[in-house]
Amino acid sequence: MIDFEGVTKSFGSRTILDDLNVHIPKGKITFIVGKSGEGKSVTIKHIMGLLHPDKGRIVVDGDDITHYSHEQFRQYRKKFGMLFQQAALFDSLTVGENVIFPLREHTKMPLPQMLERVEDVLTQVGLPNIQHKFPTELSTGEKKRVGLARALVAKPKIILYDEPTTGMDPLVSEMIDELIVQVNREVHGITSVVISHDLKAALATAEYIIFLYKGKVALAGSPNDFKTSKDLVVRQFFSGKVEGPMEFL
Ligand SMILES: Nc1ncnc2c1ncn2[C@@H]1O[C@H](COP(=O)(O)OP(=O)(O)O)[C@@H](O)[C@H]1O
Ligand SMILES: [Mg+2]
Repeated sequence: MIDFEGVTKSFGSRTILDDLNVHIPKGKITFIVGKSGEGKSVTIKHIMGLLHPDKGRIVVDGDDITHYSHEQFRQYRKKFGMLFQQAALFDSLTVGENVIFPLREHTKMPLPQMLERVEDVLTQVGLPNIQHKFPTELSTGEKKRVGLARALVAKPKIILYDEPTTGMDPLVSEMIDELIVQVNREVHGITSVVISHDLKAALATAEYIIFLYKGKVALAGSPNDFKTSKDLVVRQFFSGKVEGPMEFL
């Protein structure tokens, strides 16, 4: 679904993505893991067309997006739902107004149909009948669910999660990981891409894992491939130990 072919990206003299080849399968849950600063968010920004490669090619859903125009990217971004670390809801808007936002932005759907879609998607994330509440009245977990509802409302083909559980308590984290699985199962054909520095969560939730290290893929494969890998950098990332071949910048 998403292919990076020899993508290189530098900021000044620092090369963040170094001839990177990434292949994200359609319809599955893929985790992109790596320690902080390894270029995970930079990778997601390339997928969204918010950053552009210095070299190489990016193909998404059969289309080469590398040299898209501004207008092409605007259209293209409708394929995506995004959930960031902070759910980033508008506090001055109700839950319903927050969730309807992408429909107003991107579609010409009649209002009654929009309202129906909003209620459906809130029900899907387990929050029916809270449309009239304000974000400040919600728990952290509920805010995340509303953020997810907003990401799903316009029926994206690809949903991107950037560190969705970072800074959350373990129960909320687990709930979010379960929601990621539920969404991927219930929304037909959706491709889920999750960025995480938490390899444990990846092992529990992912179908495919891409481990970034020094601007390249150190290992890509199933959770089992990771559990059984003898690669010293992979083992060190697992153990969370400072001693080992992995360089901490
Ligand atoms: N727009 C930018 N300009 C300059 N440096 C950047 C920019 N975006 C990211 N970087 C740098 O690239 C590196 C990777 O960042 P990032 O992808 O955010 O890491 P992470 O893997 O933690 O998500 C970091 O050193 C960051 O400072
Ligand atoms: Mg990041």
